[in-house]
Amino acid sequence: MLEISKLISFDKINSTNTYVKENYKNLDNGTIVLAKVQTQGRGRLGRVWISQEGGLWFSILFKKNLKHPNFYTKLSAITLLSILKNLKISAKIKWPNDIFFKGKKLSGILTEIISKNGKVQAIVVGIGLNVNNETPPEGTSVLKVTGKKFENDLILEMFIDKFNIYYKFFRLFPFLLTIAWKKNLIFKRNDTINGYKIKKITSEYLIVEKNGLNKKIKSIHELEGG
Ligand code: BTN
Repeated sequence: MLEISKLISFDKINSTNTYVKENYKNLDNGTIVLAKVQTQGRGRLGRVWISQEGGLWFSILFKKNLKHPNFYTKLSAITLLSILKNLKISAKIKWPNDIFFKGKKLSGILTEIISKNGKVQAIVVGIGLNVNNETPPEGTSVLKVTGKKFENDLILEMFIDKFNIYYKFFRLFPFLLTIAWKKNLIFKRNDTINGYKIKKITSEYLIVEKNGLNKKIKSIHELEGG
């Protein structure tokens, strides 16, 4: 059983994921590291994650009974959808794990493996949720969508409660997690994006087809030209 209980909080840090990676040996399983501001927030595929005050930026450390990294990413995505639903936001997952509302990004997840001598030691899941912070035009926030200012602490508490419940359930029935993840994707199998028909969806890649040729892609930007 996982109990997310320990919380380490910073006003400012380079990146909560980096902190966890550097200190995982001294941190307990299930520790959450939270920061009001990140000076070097990181996104997927080496991108920068702008992390100004007002957003919810945190990482969770997993050290025991490890599952595949995708398990934690999907679990976090499904948990985010659930708490957003409680805030009356019907968000969706843009493959593989971005949380979107009406074409704009609300949240991103960065799962990283910590390994030593080729052996996985721990997994860190970093979550960035735009709550009351400013966002670029292609992003949105809980404040923008609802017009209401929610406390970040409250949202984090909701996340932890839901995550713990889902964690217990989906560890027993991981296939149901994949079903829930697929059901909540914006683009589904057989959809067409810019002439590419989606033939297969996995957590790591998509198989798409155009003009009779199959292509394996690892980023949705390869289809959108972004
Ligand atoms: C993405 O959409 O590319 C993933 C963004 C993940 C951002 C979070 S914020 C907390 C944690 N610390 C980081 O440096 N990144 C993740």
